[in-house]
Amino acid sequence: MLFMVARINTVAFQGIDVQPVDVQVQIGAGGGLPAFTIVGLPDKAIAESKERVRAALHSLGLSLPAKRLTVNLAPADVMKEGSHYDLPIALGLLAAMDILPREELADYVVLGELSLDSGIRWVAGVLPAALHAAEHDNRLICPEACGGEAAWAGDIDILAPRDLMQLINHLKGSQVLTRPEAKLADSGPVRVPDLSEIKGQETAKRALEIAAAGGHNMLMIGPPGSGKSMLASTLPGILPPLSPREALEVSMIHSLAGTLPEGGLMKTRPYRDPHHSASLPALVGGGQKAKPGEISLAHHGVLFLDELPEFARATLESLRQPLESGQTLVARANHHVTYPARFQLIAAMNPCRCGHLGDTDLECTRAPRCAADYQNKISGPMMDRIDIQVDVPAVSVPDLNAARTGEKSSVVAARVSEIRALQEIRFMELDKSGTVRLNSQATGDLLETIAPFEARAEALLQEAAQKMKLSARGYFRIKRLARTIADLDGGKDVIGAAHVAEALSYRRFRLS
Ligand SMILES: Nc1ncnc2c1ncn2[C@@H]1O[C@H](COP(=O)(O)OP(=O)(O)OP(=O)(O)O)[C@@H](O)[C@H]1O
Ligand SMILES: [Mg+2]
Repeated sequence: MLFMVARINTVAFQGIDVQPVDVQVQIGAGGGLPAFTIVGLPDKAIAESKERVRAALHSLGLSLPAKRLTVNLAPADVMKEGSHYDLPIALGLLAAMDILPREELADYVVLGELSLDSGIRWVAGVLPAALHAAEHDNRLICPEACGGEAAWAGDIDILAPRDLMQLINHLKGSQVLTRPEAKLADSGPVRVPDLSEIKGQETAKRALEIAAAGGHNMLMIGPPGSGKSMLASTLPGILPPLSPREALEVSMIHSLAGTLPEGGLMKTRPYRDPHHSASLPALVGGGQKAKPGEISLAHHGVLFLDELPEFARATLESLRQPLESGQTLVARANHHVTYPARFQLIAAMNPCRCGHLGDTDLECTRAPRCAADYQNKISGPMMDRIDIQVDVPAVSVPDLNAARTGEKSSVVAARVSEIRALQEIRFMELDKSGTVRLNSQATGDLLETIAPFEARAEALLQEAAQKMKLSARGYFRIKRLARTIADLDGGKDVIGAAHVAEALSYRRFRLS
């Protein structure tokens, strides 16, 4: 009995994919020096697991047998990262020491980090692990702090103990743990500025509404203090909440990144605004530990890049591929992982370094050369991916006082939500793959089907395409934008010349 291998199921994460991992624990016969070894591609956090497990068991008055203890994490070719292996290793040891019944543990998937006093600490990735367990008809053991997110995985048995003692007591039948309740992350009443607080800027507000309705990327260009950052920050107030399916997808990513607020499912659309000093791994994912980056945390939501030219060039260029494909590929030591990253890019910038290009009273002596240098930091291909480019001119002080108050965010939000619902129905019928949900995501034949043009509109687009030397991508982007504009115009099926004209007005070909 003593030499039999005890087995505990746990998981490894590859992007948001979950791979089953078998923790095998063997207590060797006497002979040789006592040792405790973990094999099977463990990273540093797992190597340190030994010390935490030893101390946690010691705090319960249990000492490890003075024999050769071998823990194997199988399959050996999958890289294991993270601290969630502590608990499965500890349970494997307890089973191998015949303190816990092996059969009882056989159909559990186990995750958790141990503290030295045998508390079970929060770990990342419990939601995807719970969904994996549900898919395989397994049960789940996770930290108490993660119970709220695990419970969303459906009708599975979940144990969410606070510490090792509670878990042992439950498994031995002397105390019963109740199933945790599913929690919604309530990020609280975050104060978002209302659209009506912004004076003037009617064009920019209209553009923002179109961007929100169709999920289009948008760039705002204007002098300092004209309200660009303020405009962007009103977006969360006009975007509809996540659908249940989106909520699960987004929460999986945030669960892996450890940014799920209060360990519950997210219902508000993510809005991420990384600082321009953000590094490339912070933005697109990866780094020392495989973690989703800002663009994945913004999945199904908004990525706001303020002061766009201040971002490092390589960082900006790395967004080009995810902007097209809706996912990001992160290279690891010997494999790649992908994270979903279907985000809407909203960016803001000044037209030049001093910010006052075109204003003869204020612009610096280097204008307009400095503007060309500044704007050249954003490459052509990057600009080509931005459907809406709008000027946000300075509002003069008399205008600030005189301007009538515009629509409230709630009014615009109602319209946006209506247009989003319309697109939902449209793509449910037409796109069987289920990846396209917004006009801005439609390509190829699908775009042709959803965007029939009136003859005059088609002629206008052809003419503009030639004159403005639109790239193929630019041409299709105008079509998508015109589709959203027609949707906002009472849900018109056929796109008219006025819709195309407005779509064209949101494309600048030289910034200065
Ligand atoms: N159109 C406006 N209506 C009302 N308040 C405004 C408007 N524009 C700017 N403000 C006020 O000015 C402040 C600064 O605006 P904001 O930060 O949005 O400017 P910005 O265009 O992002 O400038 P910068 O280019 O320097 O980043 C806002 O917090 C707001 O109080
Ligand atoms: Mg700003």
